Amino acid sequence: MSEKIADLCRLISHGVYVVGVRDREKTNAFTAAWLMQVSFDPVMLALSINPEHNSYRLLESGRCCTVNVLGRDQMAIAEHFGRSVPDKMTGYAWQQAKTGAPVLPESLAYFDCELSHFTDAGDHRIAVLRVVDAAMLRNGPSMLYSQTGDMDGSSELYQE
Ligand SMILES: Cc1cc2nc3c(=O)[nH]c(=O)nc-3n(C[C@H](O)[C@H](O)[C@H](O)COP(=O)(O)O)c2cc1C
Repeated sequence: MSEKIADLCRLISHGVYVVGVRDREKTNAFTAAWLMQVSFDPVMLALSINPEHNSYRLLESGRCCTVNVLGRDQMAIAEHFGRSVPDKMTGYAWQQAKTGAPVLPESLAYFDCELSHFTDAGDHRIAVLRVVDAAMLRNGPSMLYSQTGDMDGSSELYQE
């Protein structure tokens, strides 16, 4: 794929989220931008997730997650959860959603979700999520993926 198409893909608007996952005593969270609402009734979201991520295994086995909406001033949080590092969850005051998945209290809002099903999408999988609860936590403008530059290293991931 030409560099031009990679640049054009950056014009597709996305927000930036921290997705919190849990299976029994294990929790994790990762930064995600490929997320959208896909149904009104029931309210459903679709999340594109790389099956290599540590969080994928917990989502598959625990079958729940939270989607925490990041504010424009939370670039350091997006960067932190955008890496696969040990003890990633330490230093944040996590709360527990109804499903048991971890909520990031400093986010703007969160959605608590049950996993409905996965479907394949090239090198990612689409997790279709049923929203079972949601809450506003504070006001402020939400972060846009276009503001994160190449934080996710995606410029390397397009085929030549
Ligand atoms: C701004 C940004 C957006 C990202 N969007 C996604 C995404 O939509 N889907 C995905 O699978 N990974 C996405 N990532 C990459 C993951 O956050 C990253 O690979 C993370 O280390 C995975 O963590 P884990 O292995 O602990 O689950 C994004 C990273 C950043 C910085």
